[in-house]
Amino acid sequence: MLEANLKELKLALLGYGKMGKTIAALAPQRGLQVELILDEISNSDYQGITAENFKNIDVCIDFTTPEAVVENIRRVASLKRNMVVGTTGWHHRLDEVRKIVEQAGIGLVYGANFSIGVQLFYRVAQAMAENLKGFPAYEPYITESHHRFKKDAPSGTALELKRRIEPILASRDVPVWSVRAGYIPGTHEFGFDSEADTLILRHTARSRQGFAEGALYAARRVVGRQGLFKFAEILE
Ligand SMILES: NC(=O)c1ccc[n+]([C@@H]2O[C@H](COP(=O)([O-])OP(=O)(O)OC[C@H]3O[C@@H](n4cnc5c(N)ncnc54)[C@H](OP(=O)(O)O)[C@@H]3O)[C@@H](O)[C@H]2O)c1
Repeated sequence: MLEANLKELKLALLGYGKMGKTIAALAPQRGLQVELILDEISNSDYQGITAENFKNIDVCIDFTTPEAVVENIRRVASLKRNMVVGTTGWHHRLDEVRKIVEQAGIGLVYGANFSIGVQLFYRVAQAMAENLKGFPAYEPYITESHHRFKKDAPSGTALELKRRIEPILASRDVPVWSVRAGYIPGTHEFGFDSEADTLILRHTARSRQGFAEGALYAARRVVGRQGLFKFAEILE
């Protein structure tokens, strides 16, 4: 139930695939009204991102493709609308996106994984690395498995985990292995293996609802803000 003092926000969705549909179904229960949906047809050549289409929009969520997302951001920023970006596979272009966000004066929240459980997984994994860093006989590794429809590999979540873990382990290389097959729900493991035994920390997503909840939470939090934020930053 929406609290009386929470304004209903008007939402634009970029991308109407698996995540876009999950978010559209959940948004009304979380106080966001879906005003505009742009899919690969209505946004072909980015023609859907216009001042007219966005005139009532408070905030926009992008779950599209690595190829489309940066141009989507550029165009939404030119309309001065704040954004949540869940699409993965573009973080090597973060400097470019930071410039776009700063020049336009908008707020943008991005993250490889909008599940609260994964944010907790990162924290526990960091604590695990802290505990094992003095035991070189234990070799660290990351594995990630996803359904065959996922377009990028390794997953953004695995790369973020690696980014957080390696400095703790004195920049020891932590290899990442990816599996793409069938309908596997997103699964990440952080392990340490020794001659004697193995320690494994695992996160498994049961459905897309957890990602949708986090993206809608971020959409509400980014309204009225300026700057580029990681999802973890607006949670803390
Ligand atoms: N951050 C997180 O928590 C999280 C969670 C789940 C997924 N993801 C990421 O989010 C992205 C989408 O995931 P998904 O499972 O929803 O994928 P999906 O089912 O493939 O949906 C993406 C949709 O966006 C469409 N699209 C492509 N270019 C577009 C454009 N310019 N404007 C509007 N729509 C466009 C695609 O069309 P075509 O298929 O025709 O290209 C497709 O229908 C992926 O990068 C995935 O890795 C992130």
